Amino acid sequence: MTRTGTEPAGAPSPPLNGDARPTAAVGADWPTITPLLRAAADERRLARAVDDLGLDRVATVVAEELAVRCDPAPVDHAAHLSFEITSGRDRAGRLLTVDRDGLTSQRDGWQDAPVRIGYDAVDLLRSLYGPGTHRQTSRRVTTCAELNAPGPDLGRLTAIVGERQRLAVAVQAVVAACQRHPVDLGLLSARFGSDKWADLHWYTQHYERHFARFRDAPIRLLEIGIGGYDAPDQGGASLRMWQRYFPAALVLGLDVVPKPGVRGPRIATAVGDQGDPALLDELGRRFGPFDIVIDDGSHLNAHVRTSFTALFPHVRPGGLYVVEDLQTAYWPGFGGTAGTVAGPGTSVGLLKRLIDGLHHQEWVTPAAAPQPSYADRHAVALTVYHNLAFIEKGVNAEEGAPAFLDRGCSPAPA
Ligand SMILES: C[S@@+](CC[C@H](N)C(=O)[O-])C[C@H]1O[C@@H](n2cnc3c(N)ncnc32)[C@H](O)[C@@H]1O
Repeated sequence: MTRTGTEPAGAPSPPLNGDARPTAAVGADWPTITPLLRAAADERRLARAVDDLGLDRVATVVAEELAVRCDPAPVDHAAHLSFEITSGRDRAGRLLTVDRDGLTSQRDGWQDAPVRIGYDAVDLLRSLYGPGTHRQTSRRVTTCAELNAPGPDLGRLTAIVGERQRLAVAVQAVVAACQRHPVDLGLLSARFGSDKWADLHWYTQHYERHFARFRDAPIRLLEIGIGGYDAPDQGGASLRMWQRYFPAALVLGLDVVPKPGVRGPRIATAVGDQGDPALLDELGRRFGPFDIVIDDGSHLNAHVRTSFTALFPHVRPGGLYVVEDLQTAYWPGFGGTAGTVAGPGTSVGLLKRLIDGLHHQEWVTPAAAPQPSYADRHAVALTVYHNLAFIEKGVNAEEGAPAFLDRGCSPAPA
């Protein structure tokens, strides 16, 4: 989104933290979850990762993940469920509370709820983080004796049936959260409060088209611009949306304002100015390479260009670099060009230059002309929509058209 209104647009604001280096990741336990994500496609590796981590920590990871994935349940009051995972003879669990706000968990009293949902740990982790083709086979749901033996009293029977129905709604919400489903990114955007769909922008239709191929993979996604501007506890809408859309992704947000209040089991946040190339390079070295980078930060044209130059080398081959809000290329207040043609120093100027670079094999240039840049040699496709661009990374090394084809000009001077 482009921030409009009261704040001055133009020169980049200085970073608000005293030290502009990216700080340690805040609000995420990447070291814990990373081995599980990496191993999730392979049952034996996953079993080893579970052993290494210990079943109780795995239960924490799973409970946090279920809190991300569980939809609000239409129950009249909170339902409590025992959730158990097993590995061989080991057992660990959490008490889940499911209500109209979603799911929370705690360790205490996890064996005491009237319904128990159980999974084999490896089977469940494969289903949460592995390829979407995995079919669960280990689910067990058991109800306590009291809810199975109503006795002769009809009033008691009615109460028990009602209670079982209420719990069934909660069980369904948890079981659904343990499985992979198709999701609608527009709906997620609206639910998490991002403006990428139906509020200022119509981006998610394009994101779905370009991001679908990454959905099941253990990708790393960086988004510049967490949202919430000066408020440390606000923002994170799109990071939460990506965390939900990509079930095995690690999601990193960068903002010039520290965001300790933006948390999630697969979300990390760093603080820094996207106009600082050294900082971005350091970020790429520490957290990359990224499969996806999205620039939704200041939208100052100089920043968009600096960020692309610094971060494109940290995108994986086959990955995507996305620039939002190209409209600022036409807005002088953001360093854009007034009029009908965006100038070379703008975001749209960058894209036009990339089209030239994409064809560097076809240039007819003097021998002393500048060599193709890194971006010229690695941007292999561009797709531009209204205000939104996708740049695909690869190796742009196709041979040019054969030399015998007449280029309609005298040979380039030596
Ligand atoms: C439009 S919001 C991001 C919204 C978020 N991506 C979403 O879709 O929910 C832009 C964010 O960029 C941050 N920002 C502004 N200038 C920045 C800079 N120079 N470097 C990094 N972040 C910046 C702002 O603090 C703000 O939180």
